[in-house]
Amino acid sequence: MISAIRGSVLSFRSSPFEAPESEYLYYEEDGLVVMEDGKISKIGPATQLLSELERSVVVTHYKHSLIMPGFIDCHVHYPQTEIIGAYGKQLIDWLNKYTFVAEQKFGDKAHASLTAELFLKEALSVGTTTASVFCTVEPASVDAFFEQSVKFGMRNIAGKVLMDRNAPYALLDTAQTGYDQSKKLIEKWHGKDRCLYSVTPRFAPTSSPEQMEMTGALWQESPGTYLQSHISENLDEIEWVKSLFPDASGYLDVYEKFGQIGPRAIYGHGVHLCEAELQRLHESGTSLAHCPTSNFFLGSGLFSVEEAKREDRPVRVGLATDLGAGTSFSQLSTMGEAYKAAQLKGYSLSAFHAFYLATRGAAEALYLEDQVGSIEKGMEADLVVLDLKATRLMAHRLNYADTLHEILFVLMTLADPRTVKSTYIGGKLVADRNITTGQMEFHTV
Ligand code: GUN
Ligand code: ZN
Repeated sequence: MISAIRGSVLSFRSSPFEAPESEYLYYEEDGLVVMEDGKISKIGPATQLLSELERSVVVTHYKHSLIMPGFIDCHVHYPQTEIIGAYGKQLIDWLNKYTFVAEQKFGDKAHASLTAELFLKEALSVGTTTASVFCTVEPASVDAFFEQSVKFGMRNIAGKVLMDRNAPYALLDTAQTGYDQSKKLIEKWHGKDRCLYSVTPRFAPTSSPEQMEMTGALWQESPGTYLQSHISENLDEIEWVKSLFPDASGYLDVYEKFGQIGPRAIYGHGVHLCEAELQRLHESGTSLAHCPTSNFFLGSGLFSVEEAKREDRPVRVGLATDLGAGTSFSQLSTMGEAYKAAQLKGYSLSAFHAFYLATRGAAEALYLEDQVGSIEKGMEADLVVLDLKATRLMAHRLNYADTLHEILFVLMTLADPRTVKSTYIGGKLVADRNITTGQMEFHTV
């Protein structure tokens, strides 16, 4: 099945943190993206490619629009959808008061399925096509998530949370049951359709050394799987980790000692990492998920993108919502907040850098850059179409934007979800905004 979409096309060929604009940026003002069997088969100037297309191919023309790779959310908790915006103190308090209460409902498969479906629809509505997702300790929460993910044909990464201490009894597994359940889920889901499994120790404080040991071993013996967790998000959390693992030289060292760093390991936050830890992340190919809305919401601190991407030892960094501590599904909003976090650190994050962190950069952080995150021949056809005249304010403001950079910067600053017109998964239109009602309509594959 061949189809094509026409409009302005934006994508990244490499990293703006490491290459000049002439190398990293792909922009075609009147471009065409041809999709065939789920992948991108051609991309280029519309006038040239249209003449090569068979007459039978349906071409959807998006005027005053920007076609981009779908956004990638590197770190998010679907079961926390129901506690977004829960008022209170900082991380540990918030976990105990809200998170651990909400997550206890996910042994109920029906509740998990409903939440997973709603979560994925919200993600698709704002143009997110791939995410690295924490489920709960219950295997049913993983089944529910992947079943919904398959329905939409998405490339998602997810896993069962591992916790055998410092959480309510109902949310605990043991080192052995956590290992066994995760292994079964890997066999069931890793590589099925576009699903990828992530071994998911919540964070060092909620796993005993025995569980940490078995978790590292499981990840090492399961080729191609991911590992996701949290690191150095909050100062009290860091002190707690020191007291729980007194022999480790630092937070990252805890994970390293248990074989949990390397390519396809991705850690949320890393707000308070030291230079030696950033160096070690770089050397080992371990990634960080930058979660600015969450860091602001929980008062965790300010992540420095500039520091993490330092040219002599760049760390792989992707942008992430970290819902429910994060406050928006939208990666456009998250980019706007990343800009503000950087500003408070004395650094101005350009729109090109921000859009890269939510697309190709995020794909690189997840070692998926050969499959998703950019628009190139052979890549999976996961795309978002942004309507630059979606709202009166947007249309008015963009009348006064002269350059591509200005347009992108306005998009991430105003970040109106109505900007997202259509989301394509594997070349198929799965979310489309009805121009009469303004509502998103969904199609499963
Ligand atoms: N650290 C451990 N668990 C969590 C969580 O669910 N959210 C956030 N933001 N940090 C965590
Ligand atoms: Zn998180």
